[in-house]
Formats: sequence, C-alpha cells, structure tokens
Amino acid sequence: MNNTKACIFDAYGTLFDVNAACRELSLDVGDKWQDLANLWRLRQVEYTWLRNSMNEYVDFWEITSNALDYAMEVLNIKNIKLRDQLLELYLKLEAYPEVKKVLGKIKDKKFRTGILSNGSKKMLDSAVKNAKIENLLDVVISVEECKIYKPSSKVYDLVEIKTNIHKDKVTFFSSNAWDMHAAANYGFKTIWVNRFQGKLERLPGKPNAIVKSLDNIDQLI
Ligand code: LAC
Repeated sequence: MNNTKACIFDAYGTLFDVNAACRELSLDVGDKWQDLANLWRLRQVEYTWLRNSMNEYVDFWEITSNALDYAMEVLNIKNIKLRDQLLELYLKLEAYPEVKKVLGKIKDKKFRTGILSNGSKKMLDSAVKNAKIENLLDVVISVEECKIYKPSSKVYDLVEIKTNIHKDKVTFFSSNAWDMHAAANYGFKTIWVNRFQGKLERLPGKPNAIVKSLDNIDQLI
C-alpha cells in the first residue's frame, strides 16, 4: 500500500465506541443494556440503507433518535429521561484506547488523515473534540455534504472532492464489514478493523488487510 497518501477512517465502531453510551448508563438501563446497544445500532444502520432506497434522507441525529425509540419500545424500556441521556452521550462517545496514539504516528509519517462518516457534522465535531483528536485529523467529512448514506458511491466520492487525492491513493479503515466491502469495491485500498470477530460478508470488494484494532496500522501503510 505504498502509494497511500490519505488514511481515511469510518467513525462509529472504528474510531468511536458505539456501545459506550449504553455501557455508561448500564446501571440505569439494567441487564438489557447490551440488547439495547445491539438493537439500537442495528436499526441505526438499517434505517440509513432503507432511507437511501426510499430517497428519504434525514440527518444521522434523527436516524439515531428514531432507532433508539424503536429499540426502547421493543425492549419495553419506558424512560424518557434515560432516552435523552443516552442520546446526549452519543455526542461524547469514547474513542477506542489506541486511536489517539496511532493517529499521531500516521501524522508523523506525513499521511493526510480524515473521517468519512454517516454522522452529522455536529455529531462528528462533538465526538472529535471530546476525544481530543481534532489536531490529528485534516478533514472530517460528513454525508451531510451529499445527503445520502453509505454505501452510496456519492459518499466515497466526497474524499476526492474534499482532499484532491485520487481514490487509488486512499486507504480506508472501517470496522463495519459492509462499509469496507463497499469502499473496496469503489476503489479504495481497505483495511477491515474486525473489532467484533465478524465474518466477511458475501459482497463485492475485498480488504487488503484485516486487523483486530487500529494498533500498529502505521506499519501496514
Ligand atoms: C459511520 C458508520 C457507518 O461512521 O459507522 O459512517
């Protein structure tokens, strides 16, 4: 991957721990917290795909709220205060422990760095600030710029539009297998950050490498 000029990262599940909100409030959510975290995340991504097909874009904050409301109703958790607290925590999701250090190493090697995410600009800016990584990222790109979600190629097009770097010089990192497949099929070099012991999807596009976390990725590019 020695012609890489830019390292671009998916946000949720890749840089930021999507389970952190439910885990942090696990005492209030009770023993269903993991089920809630899983169903919330599942519906969140499914709603992006469904709304893409329906041509009914709303921003990721609304998608995330809708998915949480659905998941809480299914699991019979009735607590408006808890709902609002869970959503608020989404603005301050923890970054995975290795993120800051590895972004620093990549910047030291003079690669351009950035995020490409379904998240709204407000959500991304807030999470980036909270994780104190704003100085380690050259661009934070939100699908708000094209108003359609991954895996539309219009989203991956935003990288060249925003950085002037052609797709064959981009290495893209995602923990979401479907996002990695789509990005590889689009023409990025991809590294699948398989944090959750997943299996490859039966979809077009193959990863150039598979890792368990972002630790030591600077040695792969
Ligand atoms: C994102 C979702 C897919 O950040 O994790 O775009």
